[in-house]
Amino acid sequence: MNDNTPLFLRALQGLPVDRPPVWIMRQAGRYLPDFMTLKNKYDFFTRCQTPELATEITLMPIKQIGLDAAIIFSDILVIPQAMGVNVEMKNNFGPFIEFPVRKKSDVLGLNTSNVEEKLDYVFRAVKMTKKELPEHIPLIGFAGSPWTILCYMVQGSGSKTFDIAKSFCFENPELAHMLLEKITHITIEYLKKKIEAGVDAVQIFDSWGGVLSHTDYNIFSFPYIKKINDALKALKPIIIYPKGCWHAINSYSKIGASGLGIDWSCSARNARYLSGNNITLQGNMDPSRLFSPKNELIKLTKEMLNEFGNQKYIANLGHGILPNTPVDNVKVFVDTIKSFSND
Ligand code: CP3
Repeated sequence: MNDNTPLFLRALQGLPVDRPPVWIMRQAGRYLPDFMTLKNKYDFFTRCQTPELATEITLMPIKQIGLDAAIIFSDILVIPQAMGVNVEMKNNFGPFIEFPVRKKSDVLGLNTSNVEEKLDYVFRAVKMTKKELPEHIPLIGFAGSPWTILCYMVQGSGSKTFDIAKSFCFENPELAHMLLEKITHITIEYLKKKIEAGVDAVQIFDSWGGVLSHTDYNIFSFPYIKKINDALKALKPIIIYPKGCWHAINSYSKIGASGLGIDWSCSARNARYLSGNNITLQGNMDPSRLFSPKNELIKLTKEMLNEFGNQKYIANLGHGILPNTPVDNVKVFVDTIKSFSND
């Protein structure tokens, strides 16, 4: 590895760094005024499906906030779409699926072939973005975990409990595993193509892992994320973000992933202990804390940095940035990290 390796990739590989890199989950949307202008002009999937728009949105936070990595503008729900499920993005509501997956015939009807063709617009956006990004800023590609994708496909919308998705799994585990296998298969194909198109690292969002018990997590989520990680880890660094699943930190630290996302319910100390310091950790400021007064935000950010330490660490929030977060506070958070050294 030469010295030109970007900071973000150095940290993911566990190489020594002068300061931790920083990026922010959901940095490419939600709070930047320029993004809101585009949002009012083009509907959500038009923004995802037009490589010029996806590239422009991906670059916005890099130019305006100065983060150390970019994440391609897209959504985890392009996978159900590619399988033949119609997903709408409703204003002030979120994802909506009129005909969710509930029966065996629904699962059998899902098509996992031709991802190259069906999600061609994502791969074109990745290629275009790579051309425009400065060389020292890596591009992150992503997908939802099979469990999190199942949650939306079966529930048909967002939910606090994903009760319909959970009872689907508990009433007919065989069918649930058939669906999870199908999602896993297409996700691996999709991420391989994203890597071929040029992403430098991949993050798996298991945003709804935390609705499962520890035992059920090991049945319905962990094995499928492990399968994706096994298929891809030799190609590019993989970051796994299992929200609300501190119980899985130890298992994830042993499967050869490069990074592990930590939410704010778990302390840095506990996460380091559970992972045996085997893996780069990423996180974990509560996104709501970006609404705190600036002095307090600086103090909390420094505390987070001191607790995780400089090495094997990527500074981030513990979940996606919230709509209406003041842009100035995002800059304060990022600048505090960039000027940090804990010696
Ligand atoms: O930095 C980025 O924003 C990159 C692109 C990105 C989006 N979604 C764009 C988006 C990423 C990485 C995602 C991931 C995603 N999508 C997750 C996992 C991360 C997480 O927050 O837990 C999940 C669960 C989804 C599903 C999804 N997409 C929901 C629940 C919603 C509605 C609520 C909301 O705003 O998050 C979306 C819509 C969506 N995806 C928007 C954006 C910018 C907002 C809608 C719009 O811009 O019109």
